[in-house]
Amino acid sequence: MTTHQIVLIPGDGIGPEVAAATTRVLKAAEAPVEWVEHHAGIAALETEGEVLPEQTLDAVRERGLALKGPCTTPVGEGFTSVNVQLRKRLDLYAAVRPVRNLPGVRTRYEGVDLVVIRENTEGLYSGIENEVTQGVVTSLKVATERASTRIAHAAFRYARDRGREKVTVMHKANIMKMTDGMFIRCARAVRESEGFTDIEYEEVIIDAGCMKLVQDPTQFDVLLLENLYGDVLSDLCAGFVGGLGVIPGANIGDDYAVFEAVHGSAPDIAGKGVANPLALLMSAVMMLNHIADTRGDESSRASATLIREAYNQALSDDAKTRDLGGELGTEEFASAVIERMAR
Ligand code: NAI
Repeated sequence: MTTHQIVLIPGDGIGPEVAAATTRVLKAAEAPVEWVEHHAGIAALETEGEVLPEQTLDAVRERGLALKGPCTTPVGEGFTSVNVQLRKRLDLYAAVRPVRNLPGVRTRYEGVDLVVIRENTEGLYSGIENEVTQGVVTSLKVATERASTRIAHAAFRYARDRGREKVTVMHKANIMKMTDGMFIRCARAVRESEGFTDIEYEEVIIDAGCMKLVQDPTQFDVLLLENLYGDVLSDLCAGFVGGLGVIPGANIGDDYAVFEAVHGSAPDIAGKGVANPLALLMSAVMMLNHIADTRGDESSRASATLIREAYNQALSDDAKTRDLGGELGTEEFASAVIERMAR
C-alpha cells in the first residue's frame, strides 16, 4: 500500500486540539498517510522566530499536500496574515468550501448544498495598505485577468466534474467597474470560450445576493467570488448549516494543495477541549478524496468514505459537540466517530 507523506501544520488556538482529534480518526480509519509536522503562525514565531518559516513552505512544496489548523492574525496591528502569505507563496489560488446540511444538525434551512469558490491570491484581502499622510490611508485592490480567468476556470471545471448545474458570480461591478468588472468579464469569457455553456450562469450584485442567500440558500449551487467577498460569504454560508465547526475547505493551486477548515483559531474556547474537530476532519476527508482523484489511490477514497459515514452516523445519533447543541468535547467526539467506524 502506498503511504502519502502529508505536512501537518497544527496552527494556533484550537488548532492543535482539532488537529490531534483529526489525526486520531484518520489513524483509526487506516488512512494511507504519514504526517510530517511543521509549524506556522504564533506557534512558529515562538519556536522558530518567524510566523511562516521557509522550512514549512519547503516541506509543502516537497510533499505537495498539507493539512493545516487555523493561524491567529493580530487585529489592527502586527504581522501580515500567515494564511494570506501561505496562499500567495504557494499560489493556492482556489479556495473550495462545500456547505451542506448534515444529518442530525437542525438549522433554519434544509436542503442547502452549495460550494463557495473563492479567489485566494489577490483583491483587497491581500492587505496592501499604505499611509499617504497622517490620517489618510489607502488599501489597494489588485485584480488581474490571469487570476480572474483561472479562478473562473476552476469554478466551471468543479461544476462540470461534480455534476453541478449553476455557477453564480457575486460581485460589485456596478461600483468597481474595472476590478469586479474584469472578474465577471473573465467568467463570461471562460464559460463561452472553454465549452461550459451547458452550465447555467448568473451574475448577482453581492448586496442583493446576500439577501437572496439568507432568504433561500437552496437556490444557489456554485458561488464564484473574489477574495474578500469569498471570505465574508463563507462564514455567512456556514451559518446556514450549523456554523463554523462544520465547514471544511481546500486551498488548491496547480502544484500544491493545503486543506484547512474555514474557522479561525477561536481564542474564546482554545485550550478548553470543547472545539468541534469536524470542520478539520471534513477537510481531511476532502484531502483523502483529492489524493484518490489526483494520485489514483483508491484506498485513500475508502478511508474518506469510512470516516464520512461514521461522522454522519455519530451526528444522527446525537453525538455532538457544544456548538451543535451537544455535550461532547473535542476528543469525545473523535472517539464517537471512531466507535462508529468499528460497527
Ligand atoms: P473564529 O472562526 O476563530 O471564531 C468565531 C466563532 O466561532 C468563535 O465564537 C469560536 O469559538 C467559534 N468557532 C470557530 N471554530 C469553532 C469550532 N471548530 N468549534 C466550535 N466553535 C468554533 O474567528 P475569529 O474569532 O474571527 O478569529 C480568531 C482568529 O483566527 C483571528 O486571529 C483570525 O485572524 C484567525 N483566523 C484564521 C483563519 C485560518 O487560519 N484559516 C481563518 C479565520 C480566522
